[in-house]
Amino acid sequence: MSDMWQTLERMRGAREGRDITDLFARDPDRAEGFTARFDGMALDYSKTQLDGELRAALIDLAQRAGVAERREEMFAGAPINRTEGRAVLHTALRAPDGVRIETDGADVMPQVRRTRARMAELSEGLRAGTVRGQGGAITDVVNIGIGGSDLGPAMACAALEPYHDGPRCHFVSNVDGAHIHDTLAGLIPETTLVIVASKTFTTVETMTNAATAHAWMAARVADPGAQFVAISSDAGRAAEWGIAPERVFGFADWVGGRYSVWGPIGLSVMIAIGAERFEDFLGGAAAMDAHFREAEPGANMPMMLALTGVWHHQVCGHATRAVLPYDQRLALLPSYLQQLEMESNGKGTAMDGSALTRPAGPVVWGAPGTNGQHAFYQLIHQGRQVVPCEFMIAARGHEAGLEHHHRLLVANCLAQSQALMRGRGMDEARELMRAAGLKGAELEQQAAHRVFTGNRPSVTLAYDRLTPRRLGQIIALYEHRVFVEGVIMGINSFDQWGVELGKEMANALAPAVAGEAVPKGIDGSTAALLQFLRGG
Ligand code: F6P
Repeated sequence: MSDMWQTLERMRGAREGRDITDLFARDPDRAEGFTARFDGMALDYSKTQLDGELRAALIDLAQRAGVAERREEMFAGAPINRTEGRAVLHTALRAPDGVRIETDGADVMPQVRRTRARMAELSEGLRAGTVRGQGGAITDVVNIGIGGSDLGPAMACAALEPYHDGPRCHFVSNVDGAHIHDTLAGLIPETTLVIVASKTFTTVETMTNAATAHAWMAARVADPGAQFVAISSDAGRAAEWGIAPERVFGFADWVGGRYSVWGPIGLSVMIAIGAERFEDFLGGAAAMDAHFREAEPGANMPMMLALTGVWHHQVCGHATRAVLPYDQRLALLPSYLQQLEMESNGKGTAMDGSALTRPAGPVVWGAPGTNGQHAFYQLIHQGRQVVPCEFMIAARGHEAGLEHHHRLLVANCLAQSQALMRGRGMDEARELMRAAGLKGAELEQQAAHRVFTGNRPSVTLAYDRLTPRRLGQIIALYEHRVFVEGVIMGINSFDQWGVELGKEMANALAPAVAGEAVPKGIDGSTAALLQFLRGG
């Protein structure tokens, strides 16, 4: 592998200063040749430095890293999450009918289907008003969870708002009492269903919020447990909350938290949009799974998204990547992707225990367009650091009569990637200043501020419309890009040991925050802050 990285670095050196616009001038078919298409979606990676030779080298890198072999191991249920000794089978949650997937010698699919059928029974009952609260039909559902037990369903619910025709869904994640307080403030216990979503059922934020919700419910209804649902891979712990077994939805340890929206953790999504549309959501992801397994590397969307990522981050050294959905309903997608990408690939140790010599994954951030344009795009266009951008845009919105809004959205999205690539040289800036009546030193100075270096890379994911199926495809696309990047870096994308130390320290500090003795050996800064906060 190290010779491949050296080759790529040499290629980067050879391309230093080369303009992306020159690549278009040299190849009139570049846009088509550097776009991966699949089922109504187009991933255009032509506005990057990639050329045929570079693409071939990156594909070679993926092949030598064993992406194809690891991919088949994952789909087949091999224990590829070696640091936790588990299979990685979120793809089983959306696998088509008739498929058999074995792990530990047993087919997992019958259980997956049974659980989904139980979810459908509950959600259809709630939607039809036949499964009721102690004060009538359920009008509101509160999902209490954090990380993967929150971000996936919260993001998907927001994304699919035009398809909501069930009870309203709310999400509480933060242990900050403000979150649950403000959410419950507008709700009626007798007609509210609380979903406690936690794979482990031990996460302190979720358990604290669940206890608060339980007390809120108990103050008004005779049997609070009857209006609770639990989603966990630990059914025993869920039962301790007085939740009836038929209201407990289990999932296996081979589903990682950040990959769990496809199963019971997606219950709130199913309640909001209905079981049939939830099937469409799963179907979209399953179609992306098939594409990932079958398409040639150059036409393979997850593969090419990953390889442009590797090029920008590991080879060119761009430290961050911006995700810019020109789709307001994808406002939570950057947060969702932060967990998916940074919890998966934010690692410093290779699978074999050796320290990595280059960072495995970039900082991922972003916000929906056009809002970001009026906030941080200044830096993206003129800051000294290069931020590779990933734009997303639908051909059509859902809002009848507001097509003119959508046309402006599209124009802005396209203009941004165009401006990043083209930039504006000093001559053009001078011309502008001359036209504005400036002369001499003043003209030169003002023109300098209006120069854009250009040659800044971006990819654009275009799709017809944000339907449940399309959303399923987009999420699966990103899951697989993370997988490919992780294999290339030789890391385990499916553990998250890096979150443990902070949790342990918070547990150790909690008694001192509550007034008990300050732990011995604590550092001066923490001790002083603790003192200040206890006095406040
Ligand atoms: O602390 C990180 C994490 O373990 C995530 O990986 C997970 O999605 C989240 O906490 C919530 O965990 P749980 O679903 O077990 O409450």
